[in-house]
Amino acid sequence: MSKADLVITGKAYVGGAVLRVAVAVEGEEIACVSSPASAPPAEEVVELDEGKLLLPGMVDMHVHMRDLELSYKEDWYTGTLSALAGGVTFVADMPNTRPATNSVRGLEVKLREASRKALVDYGIYAGLPSDLKELEALLSRGVLGLKLYPEDLGSPILERALELCAMEGVPVVVHPEDREIIEKRGRVPEAEIRALEKMILLASRTGAHLHFTHVSLRESVRRILEGKLSGLSLSMDATLHHMLLDEGVSRRLGPLAAVNPPLRSGDDRLAILSAASKCLLDAVASDHAPHTLEEKVAGAPGFPGLELALPLLLTLVEDGLLPLSSLELYSSRPAKILGLRKGSLAPRWDADLVVADLKREGVVSGSKMRSKAKFTPFEGFALRAVVERVYLRGSLAYDDGEVLLKPGSGRLVRGGRRNWTRD
Ligand code: NCD
Ligand code: ZN
Repeated sequence: MSKADLVITGKAYVGGAVLRVAVAVEGEEIACVSSPASAPPAEEVVELDEGKLLLPGMVDMHVHMRDLELSYKEDWYTGTLSALAGGVTFVADMPNTRPATNSVRGLEVKLREASRKALVDYGIYAGLPSDLKELEALLSRGVLGLKLYPEDLGSPILERALELCAMEGVPVVVHPEDREIIEKRGRVPEAEIRALEKMILLASRTGAHLHFTHVSLRESVRRILEGKLSGLSLSMDATLHHMLLDEGVSRRLGPLAAVNPPLRSGDDRLAILSAASKCLLDAVASDHAPHTLEEKVAGAPGFPGLELALPLLLTLVEDGLLPLSSLELYSSRPAKILGLRKGSLAPRWDADLVVADLKREGVVSGSKMRSKAKFTPFEGFALRAVVERVYLRGSLAYDDGEVLLKPGSGRLVRGGRRNWTRD
């Protein structure tokens, strides 16, 4: 038996259950997962005590790292530090930056900052350019997929862009809200439904894989499931805030809880939580969207979420509100959508590991967050788990609040041809 670099033994989430195992790491990958008795010899052995749970590093398919002209809100160092503190080892960054990532030039300047500062691995989405050739160039440079905003849903090149993504086998991530309805009536539920209707029709015409992000309504989940049943290649994620907070919170917190799409009715919130509990969702995402406090008070939509998502999920699991398998919604399932070898404790997958302490309790406090944005609508929430340690591709990256990797240790993961039926 060859000698592993690292073996961690203890309780781990593996294949749908919590088992007592040994996870062996060689180089940057998981070499094998076995019973502790048959673990290979190793340079370093870590034995987790009773209260600890080993998990794969989480995969967040919707974050805003900002940087460049918006680095006063967040940058690749603080954004990925926030990810590390939340047990997230891969982030997929959105293109609504300044400059926007809808040109090769925009992608190149973003990659330069990310490669110097990132503490976790990352991928980049392209925004919709006005010219199809530019999208081709972005896809050939390895973006994870295309992100569509409400203002893109009326673009003259929309259908051809979807055909191109279908051909290249990359997902199209859609923010489903209809701009005309937003302009006339605000961010009402009908805006989300209208956009879904339009895009599901385009999915059937183009064969593109459409991933609807931050769905917030009972009816959205139903329509997407109906589309899947009819054979379309669709998926969806929802955020922790749409799962746990409703419009009552918006009324109480005012602009601090402003977000797109807005927090919805109590019934919709429960429908999203229920969809997560039945694993009807394909993923959970943070939509980490930092702003300054001044911007927030003036109504900017969005708030940071990267360091709260996993602790909140684990709290819901401990409270019996979500099944253990819901952890896959923030790890293996988004990894599969994006085609990553991440998010599972499985041989040949990246050795991204998280040790969560289930015996330590915490309370959400915006002022202690690593993001530049030090506020959250979850302020004061009780947490029943704390992220203690994080390994990125086999290297200890984070230990009890201390960062052990250099900025720039995070690596770009390219997107590319996907086979949606792959196991
Ligand atoms: C997003 C942001 O801040 O980039 N905000 C949000 O509330 N989700 C932009 C957006 O999706 O409107
Ligand atoms: Zn977003």
